[in-house]
Amino acid sequence: MDKLKKFLETIPNSKILDVGTGRGSFISLIDQLYKDYEKIVGIDISDASVKMASKYFEGNQKIKIIKADINNCDFPDEHFDLVCLSNSLHHLEDKAKTFQSMERLVKKGGYLLFNEMMKDHLNKLQTSHLLLHHFAAKIDRELGRVHGETYNRLEIVEIVKQYTKFSVIEFWDMEVPKEEMKEEDVIGFSETVDRILSQIQDESIKEKYLEEANEIKEYILQNSVQACTQLLIILNR
Ligand SMILES: C[S@@+](CC[C@H](N)C(=O)[O-])C[C@H]1O[C@@H](n2cnc3c(N)ncnc32)[C@H](O)[C@@H]1O
Repeated sequence: MDKLKKFLETIPNSKILDVGTGRGSFISLIDQLYKDYEKIVGIDISDASVKMASKYFEGNQKIKIIKADINNCDFPDEHFDLVCLSNSLHHLEDKAKTFQSMERLVKKGGYLLFNEMMKDHLNKLQTSHLLLHHFAAKIDRELGRVHGETYNRLEIVEIVKQYTKFSVIEFWDMEVPKEEMKEEDVIGFSETVDRILSQIQDESIKEKYLEEANEIKEYILQNSVQACTQLLIILNR
């Protein structure tokens, strides 16, 4: 986190865009590390995400959450000092278009930042997170949503290099908080598997996933949980 903090401190008074903001976890992280920004805008195409993130940040005048599609949004060219995409690379329908749309919004001398969880270099506890995430992606695909498998570290670097015109200036593994999770929290985490499965209404389709769901719950209960390591990449325009 120190490295990210140091980077953010090099762009004081900045305008920041967080694309695919979800519940706003990446905005929260930036806000914890660094307060010297002018504004952070989070955009998402999902009504539910926009509602949740807006509620979470309602007391903060410098953070604004908007429902918008990055590929069809009307921010002026070169409006932001930093444009971020966190844990959303594997959610993109059209990577070439999204990279182009993000790059258009970056000021000259500004930055793009990608933060993406990886499927390799994980310990047993992190594998719980990965298994749950892969299961969620599979169920999303069953329901017709865009949600690919998690990439490995090399794939993330190659995808970013393939689609961008900017220069990669730095990349590193983000530290994962290593505190031991309480037993009741591990149980709560394992129950996420049921919530993911409950999105499927058709019982015959649900049946196909029951065995896998039970195996993942068992793995989580036996091994506990830690967040997957994330790769952070910074590019300069
Ligand atoms: C995994 S979630 C977000 C995670 C969040 N950024 C974080 O770091 O915790 C991916 C989000 O990307 C959003 N998304 C997908 N395509 C998008 C697009 N074209 N424009 C804006 N948001 C998009 C989805 O609605 C979803 O909320």
